[in-house]
Amino acid sequence: MQRVLVVGAAGLLGQYLTKAGKEMGHNMSGTYNSVVPTDTNEMLQLDITDRGQVAEAIERSRPELLVLSAAMTNVDQCEREPAKAYAVNMEGAFNVAAECKAADVKMVYISTDFVFNGLKGGRYYEFENPDPLGIYAQSKLEGERVTMDASRSNVVCRVSVVDGWNSEGGKKNFVTWVIDSLQKGQGVRLYSDQYVSPTYAPEAAKVIMELAVKGAHGTYHTSGPDCLSRFEIGVRVAETFSLDRGLISPVTTSEMPLMAARPPRSCLSVDQAEAELGRPMINMSQGLTMMRSDKP
Ligand SMILES: NC(=O)c1ccc[n+]([C@@H]2O[C@H](COP(=O)([O-])OP(=O)(O)OC[C@H]3O[C@@H](n4cnc5c(N)ncnc54)[C@H](OP(=O)(O)O)[C@@H]3O)[C@@H](O)[C@H]2O)c1
Repeated sequence: MQRVLVVGAAGLLGQYLTKAGKEMGHNMSGTYNSVVPTDTNEMLQLDITDRGQVAEAIERSRPELLVLSAAMTNVDQCEREPAKAYAVNMEGAFNVAAECKAADVKMVYISTDFVFNGLKGGRYYEFENPDPLGIYAQSKLEGERVTMDASRSNVVCRVSVVDGWNSEGGKKNFVTWVIDSLQKGQGVRLYSDQYVSPTYAPEAAKVIMELAVKGAHGTYHTSGPDCLSRFEIGVRVAETFSLDRGLISPVTTSEMPLMAARPPRSCLSVDQAEAELGRPMINMSQGLTMMRSDKP
């Protein structure tokens, strides 16, 4: 059993990291920022941009392992507010990495497929050179760098388009937004030219916790194994949840431009994590089926 602190435990992935750790028998505590979780037991308020608060949180919870899931995750907001994006995603990560180093705590940093430019045409492996396209991606890559600069024992886990039921704060993710829109009879236009590796949060959380406690270090891709366009994901969601697929129409990035540039194909190879854990990652269809049976 290890003492584990999840920073960003009220976020989508953070809540499942806490759950996965508890199920594995670890002693879990967490932090939240502005959205106060429903259960504040074993939870501390923490803004990672404040180094003093970071030091205090580590001092109070005395973890052996810290997972940094907190980030400014809205890609377009990062483009509009670059100073804030760097303050949270780079300097916040630096504060956490520096205080983990000072307290001799192993750190896991959650990162993104967006560190790649998506122009390769195939799946990206961990050893390939990042080339981030926008502020979110650049600031997350800096977060990776400060994590690994602090200690080679630390871990970077990259995920991609995280989905699952969110029991904290009501924030939607891509899959729950599609479900909600289709249930209301609203049409959705989904990009047919943006390919990603959809990541089911409960499964990714288990994989990340398993890798971390078994002593993995360095960079791992911990997304799902598929490479699907956002349009294809939407169709699978409609089929799994018996919703009207006719409400989904494909659109290209040039037809409906976004504020921040997105990589056209940032799919990740998960071979290394599968080899380390000795089992395959669950795919999108399996994740959606689990999500349907876990419907709150
Ligand atoms: N979501 C995706 O599709 C996706 C894809 C690739 C990678 N990732 C990465 O995966 C990780 C988890 O993402 P997620 O989907 O769980 O995101 P999320 O639901 O948006 O959660 C992020 C959490 O970070 C917290 N946070 C923001 N600023 C903070 C600050 N200054 N100090 C402390 N906490 C702060 C937020 O709290 P408040 O809301 O209260 O501020 C929120 O609870 C992130 O590192 C993200 O970059 C996500």
